[in-house]
Amino acid sequence: MSPAATWRTHRCGDLRASDIGEKVVVCGWVANRRNHGGVYFVDLRDRAGILQLIADDDATQEARDQIGSLHPEYVVQVHGVVRPRIEGQKNKDRATGEVELLVEKVSVLSKSQRLPFEIQDELDVPEQLRMKYRYLDLRRRPMQRLMELRSKANHAVRCALVDQGFTEVETPMMTRSTPEGARDYLVPSRVRPGTWYALPQSPQVFKQLCMVGGLDRYFQIARCMRDEDLRADRQPEFSQLDMEMSFVTEDEILAMVEQVMASLYRDLLDRELELPVERMSYREAIDRFASDKPDLRIPIEIVDLGEVAGMIGFGVYRSVLEAGGWVRGFRVPGGGSLSRKQITSLEQTARDAGAGGAAWCKVTADGATGPLGRFLGEQAGADFIATLGAETDDLILTIADQPRRTLVAVDAIRRAAGEMMGMVGEKDRLVWITEFPLFEQGDDGEWAPAHHPFTAPVSEDLEALLGGQKEGIRSRAYDLVLNGVELGSGSIRIHDRELQEAIFASIGMEPEEAQRRFQHLLEAFRYGAPPHGGFAIGLDRLYALMFGADSIRDVIAFPKTASAACPLTEAPAPVDAAQLAELGLALLKQPTPTE
Ligand code: AMO
Repeated sequence: MSPAATWRTHRCGDLRASDIGEKVVVCGWVANRRNHGGVYFVDLRDRAGILQLIADDDATQEARDQIGSLHPEYVVQVHGVVRPRIEGQKNKDRATGEVELLVEKVSVLSKSQRLPFEIQDELDVPEQLRMKYRYLDLRRRPMQRLMELRSKANHAVRCALVDQGFTEVETPMMTRSTPEGARDYLVPSRVRPGTWYALPQSPQVFKQLCMVGGLDRYFQIARCMRDEDLRADRQPEFSQLDMEMSFVTEDEILAMVEQVMASLYRDLLDRELELPVERMSYREAIDRFASDKPDLRIPIEIVDLGEVAGMIGFGVYRSVLEAGGWVRGFRVPGGGSLSRKQITSLEQTARDAGAGGAAWCKVTADGATGPLGRFLGEQAGADFIATLGAETDDLILTIADQPRRTLVAVDAIRRAAGEMMGMVGEKDRLVWITEFPLFEQGDDGEWAPAHHPFTAPVSEDLEALLGGQKEGIRSRAYDLVLNGVELGSGSIRIHDRELQEAIFASIGMEPEEAQRRFQHLLEAFRYGAPPHGGFAIGLDRLYALMFGADSIRDVIAFPKTASAACPLTEAPAPVDAAQLAELGLALLKQPTPTE
């Protein structure tokens, strides 16, 4: 067909009763076609909505033939006249529901084969298939809504930050490794075979360099790439709202992030965020909730049973405590009503989280029942129950294991029990977790930075740190947590070269290695580095929660699978031998065929 002077005069979804009588031209996709005794109806869909086309006795035979030959997802241009729907056929659920378009002419712009799945709001097909045909998935209204919300939210954060004097800076995608705790994705250099760029795990070093560059307030909606074990709320490639500020304190950074969050809630959800957001130290979060990202919607608190557990004659407790382990537990108010099957599933949750199991009992008017019950008859048992604050009809759940496993498991069963009991509060719960430890000990016993190695220590702990202590050294890092999900983290940074070098040394990095990897930052610190700090919000996670999406993949236009693959483009994919040769590369392993 010849190119039209104007493809369309209106969008399908925009036509209203006020347009009745107008001659219009619309374009869109055929959502469905019905033939009711020779009268053809077509739902035509575009970005703005759905319009009903009709070809009845008032239409020409040609128009009826044209509309009769359409199939789902054909792309068409339609000339017609807007007319009112007859009474009884109006559709109140649809914005265009008072009108229909009497078809005069239909031009097929593009045909469609039979689809792998229907374009409908509710879809019950494997996600892999949706990802393979993402462009079809994106035609569905719920997905379009998420893309629109994401765009609107990005716009809102940009406005909020530019208004606060922030400058948006794009930092390089091909750079050197930034340590954020994951493996790097590497890009081979053709010009210098054998050398590599790393894709950024975050723009951490560049944003600090922006501060040395005097930009004062930086932000970026930054793409980050991390080769790490993927979980439900992780993608190998994701977006951060990345910020950095000079001459700031923690309080100012936290207040700024709260302002950004508040404008997002206001602009996107039409809701006022309650400010300031509650704060809790890392220590308190671990003690009360066994987690550095506590879900505060669940009103269950953890109790340290280290003292009372050793007295009740339960061998497992005793041997764990003797081996330096922990016993922690909690009462589930009214949990006496849980069935054996439900409790078995909580025990399984504990095992899945790495613990040997969960020891439990129910508190009844006649004493305690369940596996722990027989140890609780004496005074020591009464102390145990009293320490937990448990009452009749409560369930007591405990974990005894080495410290780390105890925390992971007790956190898991706390959340599971809270959900099982319907105790998860309706209201969103944001919380700042502050004073994270500077170092954490890996399973191999090695100490590594808990955040990244640019995080400043709390000044009171500096002396101990420089004296070689690792355990218990507090950092000036903070996380923002929403309903048990870590939304973002940040810190006040080190801006002193010597301290930065000392931190590198304290994590076992030889001065030569520190120089080789971070020469650009250490060098910059020789030329006047302002005190600075910042924050990064994981936008995919935040948007998924804010927009009520089923997963972070649903707020990403073209996401990847749990094995970091893109079913649409079939990336990652092998390359030609010639391309490898040009890069000076040879394969040690041949690629395995994709599943
Ligand atoms: P961090 O590594 O904690 O900090 O990342 C900040 C936030 O980014 C999100 N996030 C992810 N989202 C989806 N998929 C992933 N694989 C993924 N990894 C992280 C999380 C997380 O809280 N440079 C520092 C920030 C700073 O110190 O300013 C950083 O990147 O929501």
